[in-house]
Amino acid sequence: MEKRITEMHINQAKLSIIQGDITKQATDAIVNAANPSLMGGGGVDGAIHHAGGSAILEECEQIIAWQGRLPTGKAVITTGGNLKARFVIHTVGPIWRGSNVISAWGGSSAKFVIHAPDPIWHEGNKREPELLASAYRESLKLAVENNLTSISFPSISTGAYGYPVDEAAKVAIITVASFIKVVGTSIKEVVFVLFDSATFESYSSVLGKIAGKSKQA
Ligand code: APR
Repeated sequence: MEKRITEMHINQAKLSIIQGDITKQATDAIVNAANPSLMGGGGVDGAIHHAGGSAILEECEQIIAWQGRLPTGKAVITTGGNLKARFVIHTVGPIWRGSNVISAWGGSSAKFVIHAPDPIWHEGNKREPELLASAYRESLKLAVENNLTSISFPSISTGAYGYPVDEAAKVAIITVASFIKVVGTSIKEVVFVLFDSATFESYSSVLGKIAGKSKQA
């Protein structure tokens, strides 16, 4: 049976996973899975704006007025407002478009619809893995530029944006682990705060596999 792993150490930094609500985290920054408008939304975005108060939205409005909508894979930083975290780093993950399943057939004269997954479904066929990795990397870069030592991430893109959790967990953990491998960044702690148990299990399984591989190496 696979051993459950909830943390690993890479150079001077600790990477861990917990199940919980990211708005309660006391790391220097928490990351928001936002959309390009930066005007809030549902899911973790709604929870962060609700808990952090209007100061966050005001800074988001200034950023949008200054630079326009935030492209997918990029990140910006604002105050944490009323949150325990001093900063919120807002990033935009990709919307999952990898699946080719045809679900609507109203109006068609066909008797049957074949629901066939695209053969490259697991890769994502619209640069999703690359854009998801970029969302994590750009957030970490901003943390380093601001000399922050700790940061919490939610599972970006796996809610409203529909990215399959097992695939997203691999991208998330590998990207963060590669980033903190670089000696000399200010980051000492990265926490993945996962809201539901299925997401937590998925990240735990990926962490276990990576920890196993690094022991063998
Ligand atoms: N703490 C941690 N994780 C949370 C919280 C919370 N308080 N609330 C929700 N989540 C989890 C979800 O359960 C999911 O696992 O965050 C993950 C990401 O889900 P979404 O918030 O839906 O983010 P995403 O899939 O990236 O979609 C972004 O959702 O509301 C909008 O404005 C947002 O349009 C953007 C889209």
